[in-house]
Amino acid sequence: MHIVMVIDDSPTDLLVAERALEGSYRVMTEQNGRHALDYMKKVSRLPSLVLLDIDMKAINGFELFSKMKADTKLKEIPVIFVSGSSDVATELEAYQLGAVDYVEKPFVSEILKKKVDLHIGIAEDKVKIAEQNQTLQDYNLQLQEYNNELQGKASEALSKVGNLEYFIVGMIADLITKKDGFTGSHCKKVSRYMEILLKKMMRDGSARYPVTDLNLILMSSQLIDMGKIGLPDSIIQKEGKYTPDEFDAMKQHTLYAADSIQKFSYLLPNSPFITYMYQMTRSHHEQWCGRGYPDGLRGAEIPQLARIVAVCDVYDALVSKRSYKQTVTHEQACAILNQAAGIQFDPNVIAAFNTVQGEFKELYVSAGGGAT
Ligand SMILES: [Fe+2]
Repeated sequence: MHIVMVIDDSPTDLLVAERALEGSYRVMTEQNGRHALDYMKKVSRLPSLVLLDIDMKAINGFELFSKMKADTKLKEIPVIFVSGSSDVATELEAYQLGAVDYVEKPFVSEILKKKVDLHIGIAEDKVKIAEQNQTLQDYNLQLQEYNNELQGKASEALSKVGNLEYFIVGMIADLITKKDGFTGSHCKKVSRYMEILLKKMMRDGSARYPVTDLNLILMSSQLIDMGKIGLPDSIIQKEGKYTPDEFDAMKQHTLYAADSIQKFSYLLPNSPFITYMYQMTRSHHEQWCGRGYPDGLRGAEIPQLARIVAVCDVYDALVSKRSYKQTVTHEQACAILNQAAGIQFDPNVIAAFNTVQGEFKELYVSAGGGAT
């Protein structure tokens, strides 16, 4: 049951108020305002509402109200002022100070009870809303903690996946280098040229891949020639021009890689890493005109990443030194690539290459010119 405290120095008014409210509330009455204030400061269970007379001898109702408002423990208790004065200015002052209501004396019991019921109801609603807000805040806090935990686990998982992919790429790239030092070095440089060209195409919107996949693509591009591990040394290490049979054998490196990837791709279904790796290893020797290998794809049939990496692959092959061939300068390589735009290469990729060829040159020079 709610406690209603009535503070009034008139015993008669106290009695009237008590009778009006006693059936529904636990009514506490106090004639002395100072005693009432001291009492409320001490007790643990506060009144839910105070009826406070304005004109009292020991302490004026407004002064007592100000002291309640200055006290952190008491300031939230709703107060209805009561007064024998019908002066509008007094009533206005009561509201301005922060009273929830104003009741004139002599009391009309029914009206007094209705007003107390109303403000106790409002106070109950406030408590409920505050509790709901608190519950909501607690829930949000828990949700935030849960989200943080999930993000932590996701980052940990992603980092493990990332590490696994780097491990696989690093291991295969190392095996390629052991098999053929030139090819190993070439693949790493292709990946660095790929970074320049692909970033340019992603910036201008001509290549659309999730930014978060960029590293996966670049890692995969290191493996374009991994199928060469399956070729005989006589083919890989041959210096000079291939015979037609040898060339046919060499072409198999695209299919060897694609076959190995496909064989185990069921272990990582829907993996972008696998998709990117498959597209680039299988199709990096396809030609825009349809005369490439292994599938003779034409134009946009060739996966875009394969079209992009093809330009990087040929650029590095042109400018890199081999004992059996002459190198060409950066400028000559640019000219050769441009002549092949729309024939061997995707013209859009060559257009993008032309805007970043300066960066290719910087990388080529910083890597020691044509040195492998
Ligand atoms: Fe290749």
